[in-house]
Order: sequence, then structure tokens, then C-alpha cells
Amino acid sequence: MVKPCLLFLFFVFFIPQLSFSCPQDQRQSLLDFKNLLSQNIKNQSTAELTLGSLKTWRPNSDCCKWQLVSCNIRSPSREVIDLNLNSLVLSGSVSSSLLRPLLRINSLVTLDISSNFIQGEIPGDAFVNLTRLISLDMSSNSFNGSIPPELFSLKTLERLLLSQNVIGGTLSGDIKKLKNLQELILDENLIEGEVPPEIGRVTELRKLSLRQNMFTGSIPLSVLDLTKLETFDLQNNSMSFEIPDGIGSLVNLSTLSLSRNNLSGGIPWSIQNLKNLETLKIENDGLTGEVPAWLFSLQKLKILRLGGNKLQWNNNGSVLAKSKLTHLSLRSCGLEGNIPEWLKNQTSLLFLDLSMNKLEGSFPKWLADKELGIIILSDNRLSGSLPPSLFQSRSLSVLALSRNNFSGQIPDTIGETSAMILMLSENNFSGPVPKSIAEIYRLLLLDLSKNRLSGEFPRFNVLSLLQFLDISSNEFSGDVPASFGESTLMLSMSENNFSGEFPQDFINLPFLRHLDLHDNKISGEFPSFISKLSSSLEVLSLRNNSLKGSIPQGISNLTSLKVLDLSQNNLDGSIPSSLGNLTSMIQSPSSSSSALSFAFSFDMEIQDLAVNWKNSKQGLSNRNLYLYTLLDLSMNKLRGEIPSSLGNLKSLKLLNLSYNDISGLIPQSFGDLEKIEILDLSYNNLSGEIPQTFANLSELNTLDLSNNKLTGRIPGSPQLDRLNDPKIYANNNKLCGMQIQVPCYTPTEQQPEEEDEEKEEAVVSWEATVIGVAFGFVMAIFLMYMVGYFSDSPPPRRSPKNRGKFKK
Ligand SMILES: *[C@@H]1O[C@H](CO)[C@@H](O)[C@H](O)[C@H]1NC(C)=O
Ligand SMILES: *[C@@H]1O[C@H](CO)[C@@H](O)[C@H](O)[C@H]1NC(C)=O
Ligand SMILES: *[C@@H]1O[C@H](CO)[C@@H](O)[C@H](O)[C@H]1NC(C)=O
Ligand SMILES: *[C@@H]1O[C@H](CO)[C@@H](O)[C@H](O)[C@H]1NC(C)=O
Ligand SMILES: *[C@@H]1O[C@H](CO)[C@@H](O)[C@H](O)[C@H]1NC(C)=O
Ligand SMILES: *[C@@H]1O[C@H](CO)[C@@H](O)[C@H](O)[C@H]1NC(C)=O
Ligand SMILES: *[C@@H]1O[C@H](CO)[C@@H](O)[C@H](O)[C@H]1NC(C)=O
Ligand SMILES: *[C@@H]1O[C@H](CO)[C@@H](O)[C@H](O)[C@H]1NC(C)=O
Ligand SMILES: *[C@@H]1O[C@H](CO)[C@@H](O)[C@H](O)[C@H]1NC(C)=O
Ligand SMILES: *[C@@H]1O[C@H](CO)[C@@H](O)[C@H](O)[C@H]1NC(C)=O
Ligand SMILES: *[C@@H]1O[C@H](CO)[C@@H](O)[C@H](O)[C@H]1NC(C)=O
Ligand SMILES: *[C@@H]1O[C@H](CO)[C@@H](O)[C@H](O)[C@H]1NC(C)=O
Repeated sequence: MVKPCLLFLFFVFFIPQLSFSCPQDQRQSLLDFKNLLSQNIKNQSTAELTLGSLKTWRPNSDCCKWQLVSCNIRSPSREVIDLNLNSLVLSGSVSSSLLRPLLRINSLVTLDISSNFIQGEIPGDAFVNLTRLISLDMSSNSFNGSIPPELFSLKTLERLLLSQNVIGGTLSGDIKKLKNLQELILDENLIEGEVPPEIGRVTELRKLSLRQNMFTGSIPLSVLDLTKLETFDLQNNSMSFEIPDGIGSLVNLSTLSLSRNNLSGGIPWSIQNLKNLETLKIENDGLTGEVPAWLFSLQKLKILRLGGNKLQWNNNGSVLAKSKLTHLSLRSCGLEGNIPEWLKNQTSLLFLDLSMNKLEGSFPKWLADKELGIIILSDNRLSGSLPPSLFQSRSLSVLALSRNNFSGQIPDTIGETSAMILMLSENNFSGPVPKSIAEIYRLLLLDLSKNRLSGEFPRFNVLSLLQFLDISSNEFSGDVPASFGESTLMLSMSENNFSGEFPQDFINLPFLRHLDLHDNKISGEFPSFISKLSSSLEVLSLRNNSLKGSIPQGISNLTSLKVLDLSQNNLDGSIPSSLGNLTSMIQSPSSSSSALSFAFSFDMEIQDLAVNWKNSKQGLSNRNLYLYTLLDLSMNKLRGEIPSSLGNLKSLKLLNLSYNDISGLIPQSFGDLEKIEILDLSYNNLSGEIPQTFANLSELNTLDLSNNKLTGRIPGSPQLDRLNDPKIYANNNKLCGMQIQVPCYTPTEQQPEEEDEEKEEAVVSWEATVIGVAFGFVMAIFLMYMVGYFSDSPPPRRSPKNRGKFKK
């Protein structure tokens, strides 16, 4: 018994003293790093937290005992081999030179410095001595520059993770030197150029992910030599290629993700050989040919996304599915007939997108009874009423049925749904909306627009989470609904029969950004409490109602307003001079709108749905963030003079004061409206000369000054000279100028009054178009925030030139 006891004592008392601590220079390197870090972090509370997690890093102690540090305990020199420093820095930014002390530790085998707000270029030269490095994780920082060539000389490297940085440059062929590399993850950077063919010589690769960069060109065929590949992800680049026929030789492939590139050709037959395939994502614009039935025989396949191609569907009834799919998108795959019955067999399905096909028939009860999370069937020809059990599913979070021909009433069960997003617009639903809709506990977005729904709209509780509501273009009546939750951001209730006064309850919506009530029957005095609406309000449209009284000066408190449309009411009094203080119409559009946030983080899976909501793509003009800032007070009974303060509204693109009773001069300050494209002052009593400052309006492309009492010379400028349609200036007193071919030097010889009778009243109406654009913009911003994605196809440009016209 004595011997073991002694042995025990020996271990307890002697070993620690005999054991070596980590090499002193390495300890010093780590301390240098800690020191640099504390100097680098500006924010006090971040610094405290960061240094808190390094509190064991103290001079004169064994760094092998420090947190986040591991040493090689088998070697007598006890060198540091692992550093796990992810998420040390919690905000702000620190410089990449911070890494240099760490990179002096030549014995490192794994280095994880991901998620640390590191900025600047990767200090490539400092890596040259890391000859034992196997795993390097620098993802989720802000590294820029390109990948330094020194990294490619780290022959021992097996994992190189650089995703979510801002690394640019091209991927060089030197990559082939990484003979041991098994994982190369460069997702979400800005790397451009072609994928070098030398990639085929990195034959140990199992995971190759270049998702969301700017790669161009085609896939080098040499990737077919990467027979150990399990994940191959090129999603969201700008590559143009056909899926190689030989893809089936990558037998271990479990994830193949090529979506959002410029693919062409068909789905190669050899994909059948990929027996391990679990995820196949080839959503694009360009694949042609048939959707092969054998896809559904791949036994391990769980996620299949084929949407958005030009594929044909020739599998009526003949699909014998062996896959147990969780996610299926057959968007625009040419499906016809009823919703396919073989889906009944898919018991694991969570996500189903069959939008943009030619499906007809009704919503099958068996589908309603499946516990799906996301159902997207928009843009089909489905009809009939919805099965009540659809809303009793405990799993449903998104239901999108827009642009079908569903009819009947919305089922009473709707209040039981767990959905967050309900899109039922552009169908044929009718009757009242069940009151219980206001009780859906996590409803965030409700779109019932363009149906034939009627009756009063239910009142929502102040605690409701609803943020986006569109009930426009229905037959709702009764008082204007104004009882919503405090989180409300957007209320679109135009084109209904709402009546009564503008409700004061709107002032209880502190985050409201968009309030559209045009084309209703709202009456009474223009609300004096308008100044108490949310100061975030960007869009306010009350066009075509029956409001009377005057516009209060307090309206200038709505400092975020970018679109104010009060046209076609019975407003009188003068134009408040305070309008010239509307800050957001003065500054050029800022990015502040992107604060429009969405309370839930969305699954990537519904991106397309979201992007397509309200065809928001079309709200963007050439992908520029381009906002129509507009002020429309036309067709009222406004009197008095135009306040010269309106000239402050420098970012205004449209100003319409036509069809009022405004007198006096056109303010000189209008020459300051540098962004104005459309200016309509017609049908008023304006007199005097057109200010010569109009020559400064270089963006003006639509002008109407007709039917006033203007006199004198029409100012000239390259832009104004082009606006030479006589209708612009018709029915004034004594205008002259080259635009109307009336010489100014013969003031006595008056031209005969022309074509008065037949004159078309060229009244500018920007109703649908412009409100649409503004709305689209708001939505685009919200969607950008939400999904950060715009379609690759350039959206059709909407210009005010396409606006509609109406006759009085
Ligand atoms: C400092 O960091 C804390 C926590 O990360 C954060 O909440 C705070 O806003 C930051 N302060 C500044 C001034 O950036
Ligand atoms: C990288 O970022 C740093 C700091 O933000 C900046 O000074 C440098 O110019 C950038 N380098 C490149 C190549 O963009
Ligand atoms: C690499 O090691 C050599 C030899 O020890 C040394 O001279 C050189 O400074 C080291 N380079 C770096 C970047 O640490
Ligand atoms: C595929 O994976 C299996 C199991 O991991 C492995 O045994 C096999 O060698 C791999 N095939 C190839 C071609 O690498
Ligand atoms: C997409 O690929 C086709 C050829 O397959 C090519 O003609 C076209 O220019 C490519 N489009 C883009 C945007 O790269
Ligand atoms: C599929 O079925 C629909 C209706 O059942 C029919 O209109 C269509 O022609 C069929 N397509 C094929 C390829 O058989
Ligand atoms: C459903 O699955 C069963 C067994 O898994 C199979 O026999 C049947 O043919 C499948 N039906 C369809 C329509 O795929
Ligand atoms: C929509 O369905 C109704 C019957 O509910 C039918 O009368 C109508 O023709 C359908 N409309 C379209 C466009 O298919
Ligand atoms: C809506 O349904 C009615 C019958 O309920 C039908 O007469 C009408 O055509 C449908 N409208 C559309 C646009 O399909
Ligand atoms: C406008 O806002 C200011 C301060 O935000 C407030 O003092 C003033 O009463 C408001 N004006 C009106 C008319 O509500
Ligand atoms: C506009 O704002 C300025 C500065 O805040 C103020 O002095 C002026 O009175 C305001 N003008 C009107 C018409 O409200
Ligand atoms: C696609 O990549 C671009 C940049 O290359 C990025 O801005 C966009 O958000 C990405 N889209 C998606 C859906 O990931």
C-alpha cells in the first residue's frame, strides 16, 4: 500500500512543479494581443466584456491554463496549438493588425478568430511561419482586400473559412497548393472572376462553398475530379453554365446548390447517380427541358428547389415519389391540372411552393390538413372556397394564395391560425371578414387587397403585432378603421367605401410610416390633429375623399413625409407656408428609410415570396434607390397665394397645385426646385410673369401652366425649350416666347386664341403610378432589409411619362 501512496504524493506535489509552462515568447504574444485589443476597442462596455473573457490571461501565469487557449500537453515544450477566439469583440471595429502577435505563435494548429468585427486586409505575410496550421476560421469579420497568396502556401491546411467578409479580388490558381484542403468556405464576399480550373487539383475537398460572391464564367469541368465532394455551393453568383453531364460522378455529393446563376441547358440525367443527394437547389431563370420524374426517386432527397426556370412538367399522375421531401419548390414549372395528388404521400413536407403554374381546381382538404409551415400557391387558377381546417393547422406560418380565383367567404376559423403572413389578394373573396381575424396572435402581415370583401373591418387590439395591412380595393364600409396595434407600420385602405371623419385614433400609432386612404368617402373637416400623427409618417394619401376646411400649419410637424396627396377634396383656405418646412421633402432621399424593420427574422426559404410581394421589384427604377417625393394639392378650393417657402422643397419630384383658386405670382423660389420633374399649376388664377428662374429646372419634363392669367416672356433654357407643346401655356393672358411661336417683340399683334374648344385637358394624374412607385419603394426598402435581395432581371422602368390622364 505504501508504494502507490507515495506515487500518488509524487504526482500531486511534484508533477506540477516539474511541468513546464507554455513557452515564454508565446505567452508574451498572447499578452501583446490582449494589450492591442484593449487599445483597439473604443466602446467602454464592449471593452469590459471582451477583456472579461480574457481575465485569465495574466502575466506570470502559465498560458496553457488560460481560457480559450490550448497547448500540446504531450510535448515537453507545451506549445500553444489551439486558439478559440470567436466572438470576443462584440461591437465596433478593430484593426486586422491586431492579429500579428497571434500569428507569431508558429505552433498553432487551429485558429478561430471569427465574429470579431476585424477590419482591414488579412496580414498575409504574418502567416508564413504557421507551418502546422490545419484549421483557420476568419469568417464573419470585415476583412477586405483579396486573399493573400501566403495562405495558399499553408500546405497543412484542411479548413479555410473566410465567409461573411468583404474580401474581393479573384481566386487564384495557387489554390492548388493546398493539397490537404478539405473545406473551402468563401461565402458572402465580393470575390470576382472565374473559378480557376486548378480547383480540380485540390482533390481532398469535401466542402466547396462559394455562395454569394461575384464569380463569373462557367464551372471548370475539373470540379468533376473532386470525387470526395459532399457540398458544392455556387448559389447567387453571376456564373453562366450548363450543369455538367458528368456531375453524377461526384457520388458523395449531398448538397448541390447552383441557384441564382445564369444556368442553361437541362437537368442532367446523371444526377440519378447521386444516391446521397439530400439538397438540390437549381432555382434560376434559364433551365429548360422537362422536370424528370426520377428526381422524386432519389431516396435521400429532402430539399428540392427547381423554381423559376423554363422547365416543362410531363409527369401527370406518374410520379412515384420515393423521396421524403421537407422542402419542395416547383414554382413556374408548367404544372397543370389539380394540385398533384402524389404530394399526399409526402408526410415530412414543411415548405411547398407551387406558385406561378397553371394549377386549377380547389384547395384540397388533404393539403389543408397537412401540417405545413409555408404554403405558396400564388399565381395559379385555383378556385372555390378555402377549407376551414386550413386555418386550424398548428404549424402554418406563411400562406400565400394571391392572384388565384378563390371565392366565397373567408372561413370563420381564420382566427385560429398560427400564420404570421397571410396573402390572399387578387382573388374573388366576398362577404365580411370574420372578427376573429384580429385575434391571430402573431399575425404580422395581412394582405386582403383586390377582393370583394365588404362590411366593417374588424378592430385590432392595441397589443396586436400586425405591422403591414393592405385591404385596398374591396367594398369595405363604415367608419375608417383606426384601431390597430402599436407596431403598425403600414395601412393601405384605399379604394373602399369608408366614410365618416378621419379618426383621431391614428395618432395612437407611433411607428406608422404609410397611411393610404385614397378613394374613400371620408368627410368632415381636415383633421386639426394631423400634426400629432407619427413623426415617422412618410406617405399620407387622402386623395379623392370629401374633406373640407383648411390645411393646418401644424402639418409641417410630419417631418418624414415624402408623399403628401390631398388632391380631389373640398379643402379651402390657403396653402400653409409651413409646408416649406417638410424636412424629408427638402433633403435628398437618405437611406434612413431602411430602418423599416421586420420583427421576425425570416427563413431564407420565403425570400422569393417576399420579394414578389406587391411586385415590389417594379417599384425600383434601375435598382437605384429612387424615391418619388411628391406634393399634390390639386382639385380643391385652395385660395390665396403660393407661399414662396415651397421653393425649399428641393427633393420634390412632383408638385401639383392645379384646379384650385390660387392667385398671385408664381414664386421666384420655384427655380430652386432642382429635382422637379412634373409641375402642374394649371387652372388657377396665377398672374404676372413666369419667373426667369424656371430656366434652372433642368429635370422638368412635364409642365402645365395653362388656364391662368400669366403674361410676358416664357423663360428659355435647353430644358424649357423642349417643352414646346402649346397646351402647356394655353389660355393665359399675353404669353410669348419661342416655345409657343409667339414673338415677344410684337406685343400689340395678338395671336388669335387657338383651338380652345377641342383642347384636351392635359391634367396630370399620377394616382396609380406614382403612389404605386412610392409604395413600391417603401416596400422595396422593407424587403431589402428583410431579405437583402433584388432579382437579377432588371425591373421595368416606371417613369412618370407613363402616367395616366383623366378628363374632368
Ligand atoms: C457599446 O457596446 C454596447 C454593447 O455591445 C452597445 O449596446 C452600445 O450601444 C455601444 N455604445 C456605443 C457608443 O457604440
Ligand atoms: C480595407 O479597410 C481599411 C479599413 O477600413 C481601409 O483603410 C483600406 O483602404 C481597405 N482596403 C481595401 C483594399 O479596400
Ligand atoms: C518566420 O521565421 C523566420 C525564422 O525564424 C523569422 O526570421 C521571420 O521573421 C518569421 N516571420 C514572421 C512573419 O514571423
Ligand atoms: C464517399 O464517402 C464514403 C463514406 O464517407 C467513403 O467511404 C467513400 O470513400 C467516399 N467516396 C469517395 C469517392 O470519396
Ligand atoms: C446567360 O447565358 C447565356 C448563354 O447561356 C448568355 O447568352 C447570356 O448573355 C448570359 N446572361 C448573363 C446575364 O450573363
Ligand atoms: C396534365 O393534366 C392536365 C389536366 O388534367 C391536362 O390539361 C394536361 O394536358 C396534362 N398534361 C400532360 C402532359 O399530359
Ligand atoms: C405512396 O407511398 C407508398 C409506399 O411508400 C407507395 O406504394 C405509393 O405508390 C405511393 N403513392 C404515390 C402516389 O406516390
Ligand atoms: C372564377 O371562378 C368563378 C366561379 O367561382 C367563375 O365564374 C369565373 O369564370 C372564374 N374566373 C376566372 C378568371 O377563371
Ligand atoms: C367572382 O365570382 C363570381 C361568382 O361568385 C363570378 O360571377 C365572377 O365572375 C367572379 N369574378 C372573377 C373575376 O372571376
Ligand atoms: C409640433 O411639434 C412641436 C414639437 O415637436 C410641438 O411643440 C408642437 O405643439 C407641435 N405642433 C402641433 C400643431 O401639434
Ligand atoms: C419653419 O421652420 C423654421 C425653423 O424651425 C421656423 O423659424 C419657421 O417659423 C417655420 N416656418 C413655418 C412657416 O412654420
Ligand atoms: C446575392 O448576392 C448579392 C451580392 O453578390 C447580394 O447583394 C444579395 O443579397 C444576394 N442575394 C441573396 C438572396 O442572397
